[in-house]
Amino acid sequence: MPKHLVSINDLSKASIEKIFDLADKIDEKLQKKEPIDLCKDKIMATMFYEPSTRTRMSFESAMYRLGGKVISSADTKSTSSAAKGESLIDTIKVIQHYADLVILRHFNDGSAKLAAENSLVPIISGGDGSHEHPTQTLCDLYTLRREKGKIKGLNIALCGDLRYGRTVHSLVYGLAKFGATIFTVAPDDFALPEHVERRLKLAYNTEVKKFKKFDEHLSATDVLFMKNLKKSKGAKEELISENLFQPIPIEYFDAIYVTRIQMERIEGTKSRHESLMSYLVNKELLEKAKNDTIVLHPLPRRSELSYDIDKDKRAAYFKQAAYGVPVRMALIAIMLGATDDNIKMNIEKSDDHFLEDKCSNHNCITQEEENVQHKFDKVEGADNTYRCYYCDLEKIVKV
Ligand code: NCD
Repeated sequence: MPKHLVSINDLSKASIEKIFDLADKIDEKLQKKEPIDLCKDKIMATMFYEPSTRTRMSFESAMYRLGGKVISSADTKSTSSAAKGESLIDTIKVIQHYADLVILRHFNDGSAKLAAENSLVPIISGGDGSHEHPTQTLCDLYTLRREKGKIKGLNIALCGDLRYGRTVHSLVYGLAKFGATIFTVAPDDFALPEHVERRLKLAYNTEVKKFKKFDEHLSATDVLFMKNLKKSKGAKEELISENLFQPIPIEYFDAIYVTRIQMERIEGTKSRHESLMSYLVNKELLEKAKNDTIVLHPLPRRSELSYDIDKDKRAAYFKQAAYGVPVRMALIAIMLGATDDNIKMNIEKSDDHFLEDKCSNHNCITQEEENVQHKFDKVEGADNTYRCYYCDLEKIVKV
């Protein structure tokens, strides 16, 4: 049975550390320009149904630097037989004979899991809808380890669109595995989905800290959102009356992880949302932060991250993108069995699911593909609650 990586929950902390140890060694060799031929004669396919710069190109660069070969479908939705209506399952059943490993990015939540279920070769998710982006989390955690020397005990603020952005939906579990303290900074419209928070609590015994609670203890006056609101007087009253923002004591954080609003996943309210998040993190704000607080962003950025901090040594987002190569080299090499590092993956049993008629997530892959049985797993510790096997959305079932 092949090993797949469709969720960061597939990897234990020890396995992630193995990947990082190998990434360190690989990066040393890369710096010295020494050859690393771990995956000679192997072929990796990249199938991207959604736009990508960093994820696809760093995976491809990683495979070339490992001595392997790449076949690539960069705009799979319109240039592959998907445009003729071919299902994801059929496409995977074909591609598995052309490559030893498939990197898949797809617009439906849970698509990576469905692909994995139907593939003879390992599937690595490069992001599925707004569900998860596990390899971005590997890059994020690796950047923390490299730049801060540790992850445990760090205070990390996650800011921006935490609802539709898939990177944070993997990152929170990753941070919880390593024992970081997670703070969320987002208006209600963009708060972390409830099921993600619940899973953090039940599976990782981790509670996200929000600013409502936080400002009871700290009386910081220099605050992230309030500072920016001063820029636009008209907006200030509206936002405060909606109670969208809470004060943020910026000096408390070891890292600030910023995300863009996922406009492509939100219908209608474009201009309002854009203006809400304008210049979340800028020079003025960083002046109040600690000397060693780092700023992370999965990129691409829009107006939530100002260009005026790019030269600040604390701006770590381009390093974070660069680390994508050694991290993905290590992951590919390990998953293809090219090293002695054997990582344990959670391979779930496929025979004891609860079968129900529909997942209520309209973007779940089960809504798109014909002939896919909707499957749910019982959520341990929550009464009558079942989690979609593919997209993880929960539903209450009265049995
Ligand atoms: C992210 C993604 O695609 O989810 N980008 C990336 O892979 N680095 C973030 C985003 O698009 O906002």
